Amino acid sequence: MLPKSLPPEFNATRAAWDLKHHQRHQKYADFFEERKAPQIPESFLKPQSLWLEIGAGTGQFFEALARLHPEKNLVAIERDRMRGKRLARRSEEAGLKNFIGIRGNAIAAAMTGLRPNSLERIYILYPCPWPKNSQRKHRWHFHPTMPKLVEALEPGGLLILASDQKFYVDESHYVWTQRYGLEVIKYGEISPHPLNALELFPEGRTKFERSFLASGQPCYELIVRATKNQSLSR
Ligand SMILES: C[S@@+](CC[C@H](N)C(=O)[O-])C[C@H]1O[C@@H](n2cnc3c(N)ncnc32)[C@H](O)[C@@H]1O
Repeated sequence: MLPKSLPPEFNATRAAWDLKHHQRHQKYADFFEERKAPQIPESFLKPQSLWLEIGAGTGQFFEALARLHPEKNLVAIERDRMRGKRLARRSEEAGLKNFIGIRGNAIAAAMTGLRPNSLERIYILYPCPWPKNSQRKHRWHFHPTMPKLVEALEPGGLLILASDQKFYVDESHYVWTQRYGLEVIKYGEISPHPLNALELFPEGRTKFERSFLASGQPCYELIVRATKNQSLSR
């Protein structure tokens, strides 16, 4: 007998259907227009300097990265109440000029709080996979915020994704290349690379990554780069 829930597999036909029938969510944009979005400090908005982590947990990785890169400005956002509080406390206690941890919703930030061409890097590490077919619109690559996130990347800016779910990374790869024309820098099982800082964190960069690696669970990643000709018209 088959186990009750097999991990989902990437299905190119379904992903293509989703892209074809993808609609702009104007109502969604209008909803967030009215709401308060997490604000990025003005002093952080310098070209080739701003790095954003979405769903940062308690922010350990971004704090460490901020210490390693004092020339960059790092913003970590976490929605969960407890983790978000710990993240905000961590950033206060760290007292770094180039790191801020915000308890808030990255969707609101993406819809109204990010300027086009303002981010050098976006990290999404171990996002909730929303494995059920009916939940797939919540996955970041299918989400109505995705065009905004791509628009917020500077030319040459990077999107850095990691997940223990192969289907999620395969699906992101499909959408980010086919729909947005992003250029693939790295794709597959995670391994050290100058752009993922794994060498500096061999046990894992984040809490989830550490726990997956410790249990022998394979992890996957996708690093893509924005070119000047991103397709955002749909
Ligand atoms: C599986 S956890 C991974 C946490 C951390 N990145 C790690 O690797 O340890 C995913 C996190 O994303 C956060 N998250 C999900 N949607 C979010 C949103 N819209 N805005 C901010 N955080 C979000 C969740 O609250 C959760 O803490």
